[in-house]
Amino acid sequence: MFHFYAITFCCLLWLVFHCSVNCSDINIWRKCNETYPVPDATLISFRNNGTIPDENNVTSRCFTDCYGKKTCMLTSDGGFNWTTLEHILSNFKMKHSAMDIFGKCKHDPSDDVCLQSYLSLQCVAETILSLINAR
Ligand SMILES: *[C@@H]1O[C@H](CO)[C@@H](O)[C@H](O)[C@H]1NC(C)=O
Ligand SMILES: *[C@@H]1O[C@H](CO)[C@@H](O)[C@H](O)[C@H]1NC(C)=O
Ligand SMILES: *[C@@H]1O[C@H](CO)[C@@H](O)[C@H](O)[C@H]1NC(C)=O
Ligand SMILES: *[C@@H]1O[C@H](CO)[C@@H](O)[C@H](O)[C@H]1NC(C)=O
Repeated sequence: MFHFYAITFCCLLWLVFHCSVNCSDINIWRKCNETYPVPDATLISFRNNGTIPDENNVTSRCFTDCYGKKTCMLTSDGGFNWTTLEHILSNFKMKHSAMDIFGKCKHDPSDDVCLQSYLSLQCVAETILSLINAR
Protein backbone atom coordinates (compact mmCIF):
# COMPACT_ATOMS: atom_id res chain seq x y z
CA MET A 1 0.00 0.00 0.00
CA PHE A 2 2.80 2.35 0.87
CA HIS A 3 4.32 1.79 -2.51
CA PHE A 4 1.05 2.56 -4.14
CA TYR A 5 0.83 5.91 -2.43
CA ALA A 6 4.45 6.57 -3.13
CA ILE A 7 3.60 6.54 -6.82
CA THR A 8 5.15 9.57 -8.37
CA PHE A 9 4.24 11.85 -11.16
CA CYS A 10 6.77 10.00 -13.25
CA CYS A 11 5.35 6.59 -12.42
CA LEU A 12 1.97 7.76 -13.44
CA LEU A 13 3.33 8.59 -16.84
CA TRP A 14 4.78 5.16 -16.93
CA LEU A 15 1.22 3.84 -16.69
CA VAL A 16 0.28 6.01 -19.61
CA PHE A 17 3.08 4.80 -21.77
CA HIS A 18 2.64 1.24 -20.56
CA CYS A 19 5.81 -0.76 -20.51
CA SER A 20 7.53 1.10 -23.26
CA VAL A 21 9.33 3.30 -20.78
CA ASN A 22 10.87 2.29 -17.51
CA CYS A 23 9.77 4.45 -14.65
CA SER A 24 13.11 4.98 -12.96
CA ASP A 25 15.26 5.16 -16.03
CA ILE A 26 13.44 6.93 -18.79
CA ASN A 27 15.42 7.97 -21.80
CA ILE A 28 13.38 11.12 -21.87
CA TRP A 29 14.96 12.26 -18.61
CA ARG A 30 18.40 11.63 -19.95
CA LYS A 31 17.73 13.26 -23.29
CA CYS A 32 16.24 16.38 -21.76
CA ASN A 33 19.02 16.55 -19.20
CA GLU A 34 21.54 16.43 -22.03
CA THR A 35 19.97 19.47 -23.63
CA TYR A 36 19.14 21.23 -20.36
CA PRO A 37 21.48 19.92 -17.67
CA VAL A 38 19.89 20.30 -14.26
CA PRO A 39 21.05 19.33 -10.77
CA ASP A 40 19.86 15.98 -9.46
CA ALA A 41 17.77 17.76 -6.82
CA THR A 42 15.78 19.38 -9.62
CA LEU A 43 15.18 16.07 -11.38
CA ILE A 44 14.16 14.36 -8.16
CA SER A 45 11.79 17.09 -7.12
CA PHE A 46 10.17 17.34 -10.54
CA ARG A 47 9.77 13.61 -10.70
CA ASN A 48 8.19 13.53 -7.26
CA ASN A 49 5.64 16.24 -7.57
CA GLY A 50 6.15 18.39 -10.64
CA THR A 51 7.82 21.25 -8.81
CA ILE A 52 11.41 22.38 -9.17
CA PRO A 53 13.35 24.09 -6.39
CA ASP A 54 15.08 26.48 -8.79
CA GLU A 55 12.01 27.91 -10.48
CA ASN A 56 13.82 31.03 -11.59
CA ASN A 57 16.43 29.13 -13.51
CA VAL A 58 15.65 29.17 -17.21
CA THR A 59 17.54 25.94 -17.88
CA SER A 60 15.52 24.10 -15.26
CA ARG A 61 12.25 25.48 -16.56
CA CYS A 62 13.21 24.47 -20.08
CA PHE A 63 14.04 21.00 -18.82
CA THR A 64 10.41 20.64 -17.72
CA ASP A 65 9.26 22.03 -21.08
CA CYS A 66 11.38 19.41 -22.83
CA TYR A 67 9.95 16.69 -20.61
CA GLY A 68 6.35 17.79 -21.16
CA LYS A 69 6.78 17.83 -24.91
CA LYS A 70 8.61 14.52 -25.14
CA THR A 71 5.93 12.82 -23.05
CA CYS A 72 3.24 14.35 -25.30
CA MET A 73 1.54 16.08 -22.37
CA LEU A 74 2.30 19.34 -24.12
CA THR A 75 2.07 20.14 -27.79
CA SER A 76 4.93 21.81 -29.60
CA ASP A 77 3.40 25.25 -28.97
CA GLY A 78 3.22 24.65 -25.22
CA GLY A 79 -0.51 23.97 -25.00
CA PHE A 80 -1.93 20.78 -23.50
CA ASN A 81 -2.31 17.65 -25.54
CA TRP A 82 -5.79 16.66 -24.42
CA THR A 83 -5.49 13.18 -25.90
CA THR A 84 -2.63 12.42 -23.56
CA LEU A 85 -4.35 14.02 -20.58
CA GLU A 86 -7.51 11.95 -21.24
CA HIS A 87 -5.28 8.93 -21.32
CA ILE A 88 -3.72 9.81 -17.98
CA LEU A 89 -7.13 10.42 -16.48
CA SER A 90 -8.43 7.08 -17.72
CA ASN A 91 -6.27 5.51 -14.99
CA PHE A 92 -8.61 7.05 -12.42
CA LYS A 93 -11.93 5.76 -13.75
CA MET A 94 -13.56 9.15 -13.37
CA LYS A 95 -16.62 10.47 -15.09
CA HIS A 96 -15.06 13.88 -15.62
CA SER A 97 -13.27 14.85 -18.78
CA ALA A 98 -9.65 15.89 -18.79
CA MET A 99 -10.84 19.40 -19.58
CA ASP A 100 -12.94 19.41 -16.36
CA ILE A 101 -10.02 18.23 -14.28
CA PHE A 102 -7.05 19.92 -15.90
CA GLY A 103 -8.71 22.90 -17.55
CA LYS A 104 -7.69 25.09 -14.61
CA CYS A 105 -4.07 24.25 -15.43
CA LYS A 106 -4.16 25.96 -18.82
CA HIS A 107 -1.92 28.97 -19.08
CA ASP A 108 -2.24 31.65 -21.68
CA PRO A 109 0.41 31.49 -24.38
CA SER A 110 3.35 33.45 -23.13
CA ASP A 111 6.63 34.74 -24.54
CA ASP A 112 8.29 32.62 -21.90
CA VAL A 113 7.26 29.22 -23.22
CA CYS A 114 9.37 27.32 -20.70
CA LEU A 115 7.72 29.10 -17.81
CA GLN A 116 4.29 28.49 -19.32
CA SER A 117 5.12 24.78 -19.68
CA TYR A 118 6.49 24.53 -16.17
CA LEU A 119 3.45 26.14 -14.56
CA SER A 120 1.09 23.98 -16.63
CA LEU A 121 2.89 20.76 -15.74
CA GLN A 122 3.23 21.70 -12.09
CA CYS A 123 -0.53 22.15 -11.94
CA VAL A 124 -1.15 18.83 -13.70
CA ALA A 125 1.19 17.05 -11.30
CA GLU A 126 -0.43 18.67 -8.27
CA THR A 127 -3.87 17.71 -9.55
CA ILE A 128 -2.84 14.13 -10.25
CA LEU A 129 -1.28 13.77 -6.81
CA SER A 130 -4.44 15.06 -5.19
CA LEU A 131 -6.49 12.52 -7.18
CA ILE A 132 -4.16 9.76 -6.02
CA ASN A 133 -4.42 10.88 -2.40
CA ALA A 134 -8.18 11.09 -2.62
CA ARG A 135 -8.71 7.49 -3.52
C1 LIG B 1 22.25 15.68 -15.76
O1 LIG B 1 23.32 16.35 -16.39
C2 LIG B 1 24.30 16.83 -15.49
C3 LIG B 1 25.31 17.64 -16.28
O2 LIG B 1 25.77 16.92 -17.40
C4 LIG B 1 24.95 15.64 -14.78
O3 LIG B 1 25.90 16.09 -13.84
C5 LIG B 1 23.85 14.86 -14.06
O4 LIG B 1 24.39 13.71 -13.45
C6 LIG B 1 22.76 14.46 -15.02
N1 LIG B 1 21.68 13.86 -14.27
C7 LIG B 1 21.16 12.67 -14.61
C8 LIG B 1 20.08 12.16 -13.71
O5 LIG B 1 21.48 12.06 -15.61
C1 LIG C 1 8.31 18.13 -3.96
O1 LIG C 1 9.31 17.16 -3.76
C2 LIG C 1 10.54 17.72 -3.28
C3 LIG C 1 11.57 16.59 -3.27
O2 LIG C 1 11.13 15.49 -2.54
C4 LIG C 1 10.31 18.35 -1.91
O3 LIG C 1 11.51 18.90 -1.43
C5 LIG C 1 9.26 19.45 -2.08
O4 LIG C 1 8.97 20.02 -0.82
C6 LIG C 1 7.99 18.90 -2.70
N1 LIG C 1 7.10 20.03 -2.99
C7 LIG C 1 5.80 19.96 -2.80
C8 LIG C 1 5.01 21.17 -3.19
O5 LIG C 1 5.26 18.97 -2.33
C1 LIG D 1 20.80 27.38 -13.78
O1 LIG D 1 21.17 26.14 -13.22
C2 LIG D 1 22.32 25.58 -13.82
C3 LIG D 1 22.51 24.18 -13.26
O2 LIG D 1 22.53 24.19 -11.86
C4 LIG D 1 23.51 26.50 -13.56
O3 LIG D 1 24.68 25.97 -14.17
C5 LIG D 1 23.20 27.86 -14.17
O4 LIG D 1 24.24 28.77 -13.86
C6 LIG D 1 21.89 28.40 -13.61
N1 LIG D 1 21.54 29.62 -14.35
C7 LIG D 1 21.21 30.73 -13.74
C8 LIG D 1 20.85 31.88 -14.63
O5 LIG D 1 21.17 30.82 -12.52
C1 LIG E 1 -0.92 14.13 -28.64
O1 LIG E 1 -0.48 12.99 -27.96
C2 LIG E 1 -0.71 11.77 -28.69
C3 LIG E 1 -0.25 10.64 -27.77
O2 LIG E 1 -0.93 10.70 -26.54
C4 LIG E 1 0.08 11.81 -29.97
O3 LIG E 1 -0.19 10.63 -30.71
C5 LIG E 1 -0.34 13.04 -30.79
O4 LIG E 1 0.49 13.14 -31.93
C6 LIG E 1 -0.15 14.30 -29.94
N1 LIG E 1 -0.70 15.45 -30.68
C7 LIG E 1 -0.05 16.61 -30.73
C8 LIG E 1 -0.75 17.70 -31.50
O5 LIG E 1 1.04 16.80 -30.21
